[in-house]
Amino acid sequence: MNQGKRVGIVGAGNVGATVAYSLAMLGSCHEIILRDNKIDVAKGKALDMSQAASAVRSHTVVSVAESMEQLTDCDVVVVTAGSPRLPGMSRDDLLMINAKITKEVIQGIAKYSPNAIVIMVSNPLDAMTYVALKESGFDRSRVLGMAGILDSSRMASFIQEKLGYGGGQIRASVMGGHGDDMVPLPRYSTVAGVPLSDVLTDEEIDEIVDRTRHGGAEIVGYLKTGSAYYAPAKSTAIMVEAILKDTKQIHPCAVYLDGEYGFSDVVSGVPVMIGANGAEKIIEVTLDDKEKAMFAKSCASVQTLIDTLNENNFFEEA
Ligand code: 2OP
Repeated sequence: MNQGKRVGIVGAGNVGATVAYSLAMLGSCHEIILRDNKIDVAKGKALDMSQAASAVRSHTVVSVAESMEQLTDCDVVVVTAGSPRLPGMSRDDLLMINAKITKEVIQGIAKYSPNAIVIMVSNPLDAMTYVALKESGFDRSRVLGMAGILDSSRMASFIQEKLGYGGGQIRASVMGGHGDDMVPLPRYSTVAGVPLSDVLTDEEIDEIVDRTRHGGAEIVGYLKTGSAYYAPAKSTAIMVEAILKDTKQIHPCAVYLDGEYGFSDVVSGVPVMIGANGAEKIIEVTLDDKEKAMFAKSCASVQTLIDTLNENNFFEEA
């Protein structure tokens, strides 16, 4: 148990609240602090979750910060604040509105929880991770984005559905940004160690790749008023736990690249070793020419968003 650890969650909507619930059920930390502009809703959810924690004999208490000033001394802060995707919207449509929200939130985190490791969840994910890094002034190891675990889990679930067996034994790999240009890597995906190409046809693999790229939109299409939250929240909770427990395990996460894979000053999803200090090591996987080209295309998409922010003088505004 990690007695004394505090996790802040900014944005207590579906994703934020479900992250809190996962952590409370696991007893991953001593305290979870929810911060949301809808204070009464956050208070109701906090009480409900604290009571659920008691039911499972977890020691975790869920409380509410009525302002960023009360989100103090957190070890990890998860940021889910922002507008969610609605049908017909791409993650990129949320750029300017969520960038402004992220800037304000991150400035509060840097002030009141200056030692925290930040996990960004708001979309467009890679660009928001870039904004969080620039606005916090934190070392890049302390600002991570959640997406790779989600996208890989989606791919694994689609592989299981296609095969009809192998559940729990599938390791799927997705790199690149959390957008339509993400880079599913069938070559690095296995079922109990068996390469995907030994159990599925090329056509079946292509279908899985395509469905993975549009996995978020598929769910938005059904929910209509919002986007997925169970898998995004669980993926985030896995990252929080890896930090709190200092697991040193490898997870695909969005991080700022500084020369890795030949890219700099951009955020993309790559395998990262996570420990108590955040993104402790970036792993460089060998990619073939086709995979390299897909990764470059994905980085270029994220770069376009960063360029838009720069063209709007976003980083210079007071
Ligand atoms: C998702 O992929 C909306 O990015 C979110 O479900």
